[in-house]
Amino acid sequence: MKTRASTDFSDPARRIVVALDVSEQEDLVRLVKTLRGAVGMFKVGKELFCSMGPDAVKIVQDHGGEVFLDLKFHDIPNTVAGAVRSSCKLGVSMFTVHASGGMAMMKAAVEEARSCAGGPMVIGVTVLTSLSEDDLDMLGLAGPAQSAVVRLGRMAMDCGLDGLVASPQELRALRAELGKAPFLVTPGIRPLNYAADDQQRIATPKKAVVDGADFLVIGRPITRAVDPLQAVDAIAEDLVQD
Ligand code: C5P
Repeated sequence: MKTRASTDFSDPARRIVVALDVSEQEDLVRLVKTLRGAVGMFKVGKELFCSMGPDAVKIVQDHGGEVFLDLKFHDIPNTVAGAVRSSCKLGVSMFTVHASGGMAMMKAAVEEARSCAGGPMVIGVTVLTSLSEDDLDMLGLAGPAQSAVVRLGRMAMDCGLDGLVASPQELRALRAELGKAPFLVTPGIRPLNYAADDQQRIATPKKAVVDGADFLVIGRPITRAVDPLQAVDAIAEDLVQD
């Protein structure tokens, strides 16, 4: 049985969670074989899970990798508890739920995660970064996005979640409001001199960690590199620079 995600970052590369945004088994195996042991975890998201199902998780684990299952559960508490039970059986180390699913749903997810061997980390998604303030207004979440992020983040922590997904521009506000407790998992990371791709607001690995990130979710800068292992090494080196 796999265990909860490790937070021993004495090797800075253990902060890296490689986003496996692929749909073919061949690409998955190539990346995991190359990067296993060099990074902290591999993120299996909706694209890969809808293409390969739980086999994607098993393949990563069979090659010695740990899995962050990013399916962003959002349903009635009983259904989410069932999804968490099944995720626990798969031996994932971390998974996501939407904080906007409400307190009963988040508490059900935490209770189920704590009752299973290995007890994966439960991470809350606050406000999707793709939503503009007009979108939020239409959803009835008036006011600056940042206040909704902090409010939902606080709710998630009150429900006993282990941490939150936080974009680089949310890190400081979340740390200021919620202190050291939440593990913050941050996408939108781009090494210096790397293109932004479709990301709007980015930070370098170093800046994200200085601002409070614990785990760095990084996809294309690693997965599309000519030498993915070298890309990981360069990021880890950047992290230890003063
Ligand atoms: O390739 P790239 O480094 O942009 O991949 C980032 C990963 O983090 C993708 O899997 C993306 O879906 C995810 N993500 C994100 N922004 C968010 C939440 C998740 O980029 N706000």
